[in-house]
Amino acid sequence: MMQVVDTIEQVRAARWADSAATWGLVPTMGYLHEGHLSLVAASTAENDFTAVTIYVNPTQFAPDEDLNTYPRDMARDLALLAAAGVDWVFTPTDALMYPVGFQTEVRISEVTQMLEGASRPTHLHGVATVVTKLLNIVQPTRAYFGQKDAQQTVVVKRLVADLNINTEIVICPIVREADGLALSSRNVYLSAAQRRAAVVLSQSIATIADEIEAGARDGEALRQQLAALIAAEPLAQLDYVSIANPLTLHEWTTIEMEKGVLVSVAVFFGRTRLIDNRLL
Ligand code: PAJ
Repeated sequence: MMQVVDTIEQVRAARWADSAATWGLVPTMGYLHEGHLSLVAASTAENDFTAVTIYVNPTQFAPDEDLNTYPRDMARDLALLAAAGVDWVFTPTDALMYPVGFQTEVRISEVTQMLEGASRPTHLHGVATVVTKLLNIVQPTRAYFGQKDAQQTVVVKRLVADLNINTEIVICPIVREADGLALSSRNVYLSAAQRRAAVVLSQSIATIADEIEAGARDGEALRQQLAALIAAEPLAQLDYVSIANPLTLHEWTTIEMEKGVLVSVAVFFGRTRLIDNRLL
């Protein structure tokens, strides 16, 4: 039977009832889709117990972002998680996570500066802080994150290494719709026309990835081509394109394939901002 808890004491008591048991943690902001559930499936396959957190973390939203309208459906989320075989769901409140007097922030200095960090300067500090707190509250054996948020995976791996957090970070592949659009809770914001146009993200990334695999190495030329492919879609407004080293997130001038390449984009459709990427 899945248990839903909202205090740290309940989580800790469950976690340490059997200290030999392995625990997997899947942090989410709810409004769950198959992308989230793929992380849950990976966790239930690899651990004795799986805990999912549902918490729309205010500190990772800027004042002009969609915190108040972020989609929520707790009843549906809990039904999906129960059916997926989750053992524990932790649904903390803002007052529990950020009580009066709270004043500590986890900031990763370098890999938060570019990409999402350039467009959303406070976002990744909020993510790093809440993920650190959730890892400390649950103390899982493993924690599961999606490649969908590529920079978030780099930030989480960095903070776990730098702060000696005793959790293995597992990254799971991007789950996509049939036409290639990466699943996202924010896809519900798209109009029918925007939804059709949104395939431009995965398609333009695939074109560039094919060229890199065929031997193209000029980062700037590839970035320009990627930007042009997105600009060709009238409903799309480009935020950024990136062809970067997947470890440092520095833009490649000349791609060094042995170090890997992360092709990523952020695109607005109206006020809805979508991201996608591919790791080669
Ligand atoms: P959220 O956007 O709810 O995503 C929760 C997890 O699901 C993240 O690790 C994300 O990368 C993963 N995910 C989302 N869409 C996916 C897809 N199409 N395929 C595979 N995985 C996907 O990311 C967050 O919440 C928050 O920043 C959080 C880590 C919970 C901290 O607040």
